[in-house]
Amino acid sequence: MSSNRLEVMRHLQDFVRDALPSLLKTEDTYWQPSDFLPDMSQPDAFDQIRELQQAARELPDDLLAVLVGDMITEEALPTYSVWLHSYEGIDKGGEPRGPWGEWARKWTAEENRHGDVLNRYLYLTGRVNMREVEATIQNLISDGMDIKTGSDPYKAFAYTSFQEIATQVSHKNVAVRAASLGDRRLARLCSHVASDENRHAKAYKLFFEKILEVDPSDALLSFQEMMKSKVTMPAMYMREKGKQIGESFRKFADVAERTGVYTRLHYVDILQGLVRSWNIEALTQLTPAAEHAQQFLCSLPERYRKVAERFENVSKELHSFSWLNGGESTPVAQPS
Ligand SMILES: [Fe+2]
Ligand SMILES: [Fe+2]
Repeated sequence: MSSNRLEVMRHLQDFVRDALPSLLKTEDTYWQPSDFLPDMSQPDAFDQIRELQQAARELPDDLLAVLVGDMITEEALPTYSVWLHSYEGIDKGGEPRGPWGEWARKWTAEENRHGDVLNRYLYLTGRVNMREVEATIQNLISDGMDIKTGSDPYKAFAYTSFQEIATQVSHKNVAVRAASLGDRRLARLCSHVASDENRHAKAYKLFFEKILEVDPSDALLSFQEMMKSKVTMPAMYMREKGKQIGESFRKFADVAERTGVYTRLHYVDILQGLVRSWNIEALTQLTPAAEHAQQFLCSLPERYRKVAERFENVSKELHSFSWLNGGESTPVAQPS
């Protein structure tokens, strides 16, 4: 990492320290996975499970496959946590502790609940081949992934801003579908996960906004570079047992698109939202290369939107997922 970036990270420490209380919840206000799951200590525990299974029976296979993919992605948290802590300027837990390290630890602790709650819920539905899902989680963590941010914290925060919004969109849309299908438990738990993702997105957007204030030209160049290589979703690296990297994602992206949970247009909307909220268009006193990046970034959403709108072929392909009992995911009509 350039000494300049390290300097900026150090410079922002006080800001981050002051901002953390507004970006994090407290021990008293955190939700926990148990809040949404049957309480096994109760005499009616099995009635609660039966009720859960009855509601989950209504979920179409496509939606279930998306939810499983989302859960697998959440469960690769060890990879993301190591990645976030690897940046210079973020302390690794030893002394002295700083605000960047505190954010990274607390972010990890909050994210840890996402995989837990989704995993337990899906296990209890009885509709998922848990062994295959667990094998995919193990593959995802052991294969590793290159999300192309290198050692650049500017790219990392532009990336996490994007990624947290993408997960928020996905969990929120599963919640909406689940509610319309009568699975209120799933709707509630996904809404809570989505609201965490939303708060995390707010934090990363704020960090990048401050970087733009302090070092606008380099920040723009990093953002541009990240968008040029397209945002690499961790889900792209999911791999079912015996398959190649890319095969599971292709099916997953297809079902996410046709259920409307996460589509090409969402990708464009997220990018456009970031360009607008960081007011990229109005930045001044840039180097010539950064001015070029500014123009590129401001025109990119419309270019992508045209491509996304031309894409009308919603796939009707029958997808076979080892994750699902029964194994196949077929398209069904979704509420518009
Ligand atoms: Fe998450
Ligand atoms: Fe997240």
